[in-house]
Amino acid sequence: MTITLAFDVYGTLIDTHGLVSELRRYAGDLAEEFSRLWREKQLEYSFRRGLMQNYETFAVCTRHALDYTCSACGVPITDEEKAALLERYRTLPAFGDAEPGLAALQEAGYRLFAFSNGSADAVETLLHNAGIRERFLGVVSVDDLRSFKPSPAVYSHFLRKAGATGANAWLVSSNPFDVIGAVSAGMRAAWVKRSPDAVFDPWGIEPTITLTGLDQLQGSLEAYLSGE
Ligand code: LAC
Repeated sequence: MTITLAFDVYGTLIDTHGLVSELRRYAGDLAEEFSRLWREKQLEYSFRRGLMQNYETFAVCTRHALDYTCSACGVPITDEEKAALLERYRTLPAFGDAEPGLAALQEAGYRLFAFSNGSADAVETLLHNAGIRERFLGVVSVDDLRSFKPSPAVYSHFLRKAGATGANAWLVSSNPFDVIGAVSAGMRAAWVKRSPDAVFDPWGIEPTITLTGLDQLQGSLEAYLSGE
């Protein structure tokens, strides 16, 4: 049975804190906290827009979250500087373990897709820029449905687009809310616990497997699947 892998993009393949050194110019010692709040608000806005059925693209959530974070942290950034930061957000770097991990999986015959809250053009740009686009059979975006993770509809949409079923498709994500969303919608899921301090939400819905980096994914999958 061929296994299909759905890779979350922001935070899993691509480092959403890749602009911290640039943020230091504006936020100084607050740069890391600024980056964290920006990301948290971006996700919160996507959750709220999903619940409110008031869809705007993930790029709009990112822009509004940047405006919020500037106000909350008392960091004045001009409109031109914000536009430059948002442009740089379109070319955030990949994590160092992404390319070797993806290459091993592709060579082992897994079907790889990127599956993101980001619109398809934003994800294509990110993956091309990071030099990992060729590892994927395709990009599936929630934008097709005008909703966001973790709506169960977007995981079903992924399965339809990828021609897979929940039993043979895995979500790979560093985001616990995404892992819980996928498992709850009938997929399997690998949680990439990049930091030893990362906490998984105590909902009683567990990842199928947990690993500390994408370079471990092929080995962890083989071990799990051979034990079934
Ligand atoms: C994504 C968000 C969850 O890429 O980071 O889908």
